[in-house]
Amino acid sequence: MTKTIGIVTSGGDAPGMNAAIRAVTRISHYKGCNVIGFERGWDGLLTNTFRRLGPRNVGGIIHTGGTILHTLRCPAFEDPANQEIGVQTLCKNNVDALVVIGGDGSFRGALELSKRSGVQVIGIPATIDNDVYGTDETIGFDTAVNTAVGTIDKIRDTALSHERIFVVEVMGRKRGFLAVHVGIAVGAEVILTPEKPTDTRGVIQIMEKNSAKGKRAGIIVTAEGAGDSTKLTAELQEQTESEVRLSIVGYAQRGGSPTARSRLLASLFAEKAIESICNNGGNRAIGLQNGVITSIELEKAARGTKELDLRLLEVADMLSI
Ligand code: ADP
Ligand code: F6P
Repeated sequence: MTKTIGIVTSGGDAPGMNAAIRAVTRISHYKGCNVIGFERGWDGLLTNTFRRLGPRNVGGIIHTGGTILHTLRCPAFEDPANQEIGVQTLCKNNVDALVVIGGDGSFRGALELSKRSGVQVIGIPATIDNDVYGTDETIGFDTAVNTAVGTIDKIRDTALSHERIFVVEVMGRKRGFLAVHVGIAVGAEVILTPEKPTDTRGVIQIMEKNSAKGKRAGIIVTAEGAGDSTKLTAELQEQTESEVRLSIVGYAQRGGSPTARSRLLASLFAEKAIESICNNGGNRAIGLQNGVITSIELEKAARGTKELDLRLLEVADMLSI
């Protein structure tokens, strides 16, 4: 019997979501399934807004950022009554399986939907935060890291010319995966994360040590969730002899053409998702674990918390001697 597979992109967009939409659509059709794409995240299920997707509808998007299905934050979907509307929408359109492309919040919504409907729900992890339990890496993370690294390499040029200290804020409201990976890749003198907050006094002590070693310029990479970067910059300027400036990398990290790695993850995660659907594998979350594309129970992914390896911060300290 021909299955109908639904796709939804939800939460913060991430470079590579379009590559995932393309792969889910093409592999589904390769396996003889139909595909419908719901518009604007969970809102598409609340308003029954979708478009039919064929192999030709997803041509020319593998290299583009964003999501052709659009996305949004949809707090209304946390209301069980609205989740029931979502179930009815899936039923009305005879959807046999739903592929949810998003981050940890989207996985929580996907879990609620799976508990209320007989539809097989598969999560594909896509967020620049890389904070989804059950996968070493999410779609979009590599692209966001490279975007921030490219920006900060440019900032280091002017920092060295003026012998200035730059506080550079990267995204990551709850977790410091972006800050740590970017910080090590740019050779940051200090990396601040939500997991290991460091007060201004502590940062000044590091700066003073560096200055004594002859390091007069420096980069401080801070996750947006590690504290108020504007306040930190002002305090460093007031309390040290250095000239201190602030740069916020911002939403550029959410866009841009996905890197080859983000496109590859998107394509291979999609293949695993459709394989699971064709094998009636239940509600699953796709992920990369130790170099292997695999899946875990959706409930474990949605309820789990992915912790940052704080040893990476120790490595960063050694490298900034
Ligand atoms: P991301 O998926 O990038 O983490 P969000 O945290 O905004 O982004 O989650 C995406 C959407 O998933 C939310 O806007 C909301 O509609 C839904 N969602 C998040 N948490 C839950 C939950 N516990 N129950 C139901 N829906 C949820
Ligand atoms: O979840 C990805 C993310 O970019 C976070 O790093 C950031 O804190 C948040 O989304 C910003 O949310 P919004 O796009 O709703 O402003």
